[in-house]
Amino acid sequence: MPAKSFKRTLVTSALPYTNGPVHIGHLAGAYLPADMYVRYLRLQGRDVVYVCGSDEYGAAILMQAREEKVAPQDIIDRYHPMIRDSFAKTGISFDNYSRTSLEIHTQTSQEFFQKLSEKKQFVMKREEHLYDPSAKIFLADRFVRGTCPFCGYENAYGDQCEKCGASLSPLEIKNPRSTLTDAIPELRPTTHWYLPLGKWQPQLEAYIANHSDWKPNILGQIGSWFTEGLRDRAITRDVPWGVPVPKEAADAAGVAATGKVIYVWFDAPIGYISSTREWAAKKGDPERWKRYWQDEESRLIHFIGKDNIVFHALMFPAMLMAHGEYIVPDQVPANEFLNIQGSKLSTSRGWAVWLHEYLDDFPPDLLRYVLATILPESKDSDFSWSEFQARVNNELADILGNFVNRALTFAQREFDNKVPALSAPSDADKTALAELRKFPIQIGDAYERFRFREAVHLTMNVARLGNKFFNDQAPWVTRKTDRSQCANTIHISLQICAALAVLMDPVLPFSADKLRSMLGLKGIRASTPDCDPASGIGWTEAASPLLQAGHALGRKEILFQKITNDMIESQIEKLESVEDAEPDTSYADPKSTIVYDDFTKMDLRVGRIISAEQVPKSKRLLKLQVDIGYEVRQILSGVAEHFSTEDMVGRSVVIVANLASRKMMGLESQGMLLMAEDREGKLKLVTSESESGSVVC
Ligand code: MF3
Ligand code: ZN
Repeated sequence: MPAKSFKRTLVTSALPYTNGPVHIGHLAGAYLPADMYVRYLRLQGRDVVYVCGSDEYGAAILMQAREEKVAPQDIIDRYHPMIRDSFAKTGISFDNYSRTSLEIHTQTSQEFFQKLSEKKQFVMKREEHLYDPSAKIFLADRFVRGTCPFCGYENAYGDQCEKCGASLSPLEIKNPRSTLTDAIPELRPTTHWYLPLGKWQPQLEAYIANHSDWKPNILGQIGSWFTEGLRDRAITRDVPWGVPVPKEAADAAGVAATGKVIYVWFDAPIGYISSTREWAAKKGDPERWKRYWQDEESRLIHFIGKDNIVFHALMFPAMLMAHGEYIVPDQVPANEFLNIQGSKLSTSRGWAVWLHEYLDDFPPDLLRYVLATILPESKDSDFSWSEFQARVNNELADILGNFVNRALTFAQREFDNKVPALSAPSDADKTALAELRKFPIQIGDAYERFRFREAVHLTMNVARLGNKFFNDQAPWVTRKTDRSQCANTIHISLQICAALAVLMDPVLPFSADKLRSMLGLKGIRASTPDCDPASGIGWTEAASPLLQAGHALGRKEILFQKITNDMIESQIEKLESVEDAEPDTSYADPKSTIVYDDFTKMDLRVGRIISAEQVPKSKRLLKLQVDIGYEVRQILSGVAEHFSTEDMVGRSVVIVANLASRKMMGLESQGMLLMAEDREGKLKLVTSESESGSVVC
């Protein structure tokens, strides 16, 4: 619970850049936890509005447009609907999903800017900036490349070196070149608006000190910013894409407004305000947004990824303070990053699981659940397809789905598909009901503390309680020996199912809906924006028995289908083939040191490839028979795009002979071929002149 009690809550998720589709790393960072949270609040009957929208300005979009030789408008018009639809299909239940290219946003951000200008909250600076004479454009941020002054990397961006991570300014780069034309930039004077963050440091420090309940990852980052000392931040740019600097402000500063736009990190968070305004207008109550933004009894919460911390915890609060009429964020739950199959997610290398592609293959709830169990809440976490499969099969299907199925099947067969009466409950019956009653508060408490992994774990404990109770009571025995005890067991099991149909809703909204219809459970408050917070059965009542004796149950369905090995393998294939197509051209990072013993654990041997064939239906896999002297091994190797079968037959290669065997596309692989991968991602075989069976040491 927040220290203070609030009347209403405004929840935001970071506005995604509209230069590509969203992937599951985005989902796990800023959208899924926010959606779980607002669904929980709605079920609690609390007044909450959840807004987001597309972030359509900024260098990323401009660059993408230049690369594709199309207008920036084409880029955003392509990705905005795509992103919006993927979120909708995933059940991310925004009250409003806006876009920053709308007029209402231009107006809102210009008004905001103008207000700060009138209040003399900006500092003007005239400085020399890099200018591309052939493109006739100033080169901000990513529009410059050159040598990093810290590590010497030759392809560092104007705002950051991707090699050593240093944050840079275009003027620090050595031998700068224009990313657009490769021209050597010249220096030209230009004037910009700065937000004097340094001036706000004391207020910001006091503000953060008041929020010691924020997660350590955020407080840590902010602490080091404070230690370094906050610096003035340029909040305008000379680029042809963005919200124009308002003319009044330019006139007041004696600067020509033409060509000047508001920096994307200044306008984008204002996008939260515009989205709320758009929502209010759609509701037919255009002033209603103010209640959420300008009333001390409202709570503002920003869900973001860790790369956005400084903007939401320092810069935006300073903007809001400088404006004077707004509340400031009360919580900023920032998540760390999600890796994929052990490697850092990289959109440029195609190492990502795209949400729209996932949705073509699987139901949204499976991903919601699996991601919720591995959210990078306090450190980076890893998504792997095998874990996806294991959690869906062993947890969703075997624990949750199975419990529901057993209870409903029994009710159907033994009690005419109705809820049997509870009569003279035993101690075990009473204990189970008492246990059940604790869950809404327990799980709710985890949500209130933004501990989503814990909330999901506790939710599954409801199903675990159900399974254990069902097993202990053995209704398949009592159906013959003690009908009334059997009836009690099924009655309580069905009550547990009904509680689940509410409690699992924040994480599994589609399945909760399905379960409610299987149970014929009506009158549950919705967790969607159109819910009526004052009506229906909500979170608190979820575990007070919801079903009456004699209530007619609905039609049984399978809640969760299991994931087969083939399904997983084709996902891994897809991931790996894309990566091969767009190789990274930097040297791989050095690995950490191992001791000699680690090395000797590997049984490396020379083997002769005696046959090679393409695995049917796989673009990537070759099936090899390799003679390693004392036996012939079948080895599957994902190199079909690099070698033909003829390239391989007859070659003597080095294999890892004691790697645990594993199945791919239904075939067993008993070992692994060593390869050498160059910087372009080209593979060569590691060959040997020794005879088959020789040990590599
Ligand atoms: N577009 C930014 C990103 O994807 C996030 C913007 S959040 C906002 O990193 F607050 F500025 F809207
Ligand atoms: Zn560097």
